[in-house]
Amino acid sequence: MSEDRKRMRFLVTAGPTREPIDPVRFLSNRSSGKMGYALALAALGRGHEVVLISGPVALRSPAVAELISVETALEMFAAVESRIQSADAAIFCAAVADYRPVSVAEEKIKKTADHMQLELTRNPDILGSAREQFGFRGILVGFAAETNDLEFHARGKLLRKGCDLLVANDVSRSDIGFGSEKNEVTLFFSDGDRLHLACASKQEIAEEVIREIEKLIEDRKGASEKASSIELNQAE
Ligand code: CTP
Repeated sequence: MSEDRKRMRFLVTAGPTREPIDPVRFLSNRSSGKMGYALALAALGRGHEVVLISGPVALRSPAVAELISVETALEMFAAVESRIQSADAAIFCAAVADYRPVSVAEEKIKKTADHMQLELTRNPDILGSAREQFGFRGILVGFAAETNDLEFHARGKLLRKGCDLLVANDVSRSDIGFGSEKNEVTLFFSDGDRLHLACASKQEIAEEVIREIEKLIEDRKGASEKASSIELNQAE
């Protein structure tokens, strides 16, 4: 690590969640976890401390300070809540299931009628809980997978969830995103700026994203040091 680059603490969520229906079935999604793991590796490669909170994936575990394997959205929520305070930046890359079955059958559900209904209930929004519920004041980064009106939806999520940065990708394209080795994303910043990262490997995209987050952490620290020195001067 270069002399002038500070070691920072990153929390990263990655992968899908699994919401059990019965002992052998679950609801999930197509997230491979590759983008989240690439972010964890990129932060590690730049000398930072990383806590990785991961849903079930088929990827090699990176040498992070702490790897917490979870299955459900509720488990991911609890893991984030207990560790987010010490992070300089929290990156929410996981594809968390928005709903879970209201009840989990204790025994395997047998087929009977031609139709069956599964009642679902909303999972908590983990990223959306970071500011008010967890009281997190560090750099907050969300991801958005959209199929249409990318900028409109991304800017809405950025505001609603109190993010400093939202990384958006177009999942209607089959050559990038879910399961793919490549990605192409647009970064939307809370000050109105945007930055498009052209199609590249997920590792290259992750390195760019980590560099942008480092700048946000430095700017935030600079601003708060300036504010406290003004306070000190006024007190003298
Ligand atoms: N996210 C989360 N907890 C959830 C759902 C999502 O932390 N229960 C995070 C994801 O990790 C991602 C961001 O929120 O960083 C965007 O998720 P998304 O589901 O696309 O956002 P929503 O506001 O739920 O929008 P949509 O209506 O498109 O599902």
